[in-house]
Amino acid sequence: MSVDFESLNSQLAALLAGETDALANSANFVGLLYGGISDINWLGIYVLRDNELVLGPFQGLPACVRIPLGQGVCGTAAENNATVRVDDVHAFAGHIVCDPESRSEVVVPLSVHGKLIGVLDIDSPLTGRFSDADQAGVELLCETFVQKLENDLADAADFI
Ligand code: SME
Repeated sequence: MSVDFESLNSQLAALLAGETDALANSANFVGLLYGGISDINWLGIYVLRDNELVLGPFQGLPACVRIPLGQGVCGTAAENNATVRVDDVHAFAGHIVCDPESRSEVVVPLSVHGKLIGVLDIDSPLTGRFSDADQAGVELLCETFVQKLENDLADAADFI
């Protein structure tokens, strides 16, 4: 089933509009996306802290807390500052298993004022769940989220 990313993006902008607290906005960002994107079993933010990724707001089962830069799908996306989409997690060397039900994954880096602040990670129990259009849609939602953070935060270090 395809996702109406334009509609989700409008809902996101409205949801974030009246609030400047980065933690509250991050939690609602995650909640909106988890409810709006079909066939996923985990969605959350890993926050960059002292050169490693630390678990932040998420929906789904409890997950691994710390991921070093360069490790797993999340650490690879963070280190290269580029989206990583994996159709079959079993074929990705170094994939870190959190929920064994996960089969495919997309990770989008998040940057504020030119500095990486973390990544958005989405897991699906379906192999090949994320298409080019899904990746573009998720990147659009991330762009709306980081633009709001840029408006609200003087410095990337002020993120949660
Ligand atoms: N699979 C990720 C780890 C995070 S969980 O999926 C929530 C990775 O390889 O980085």
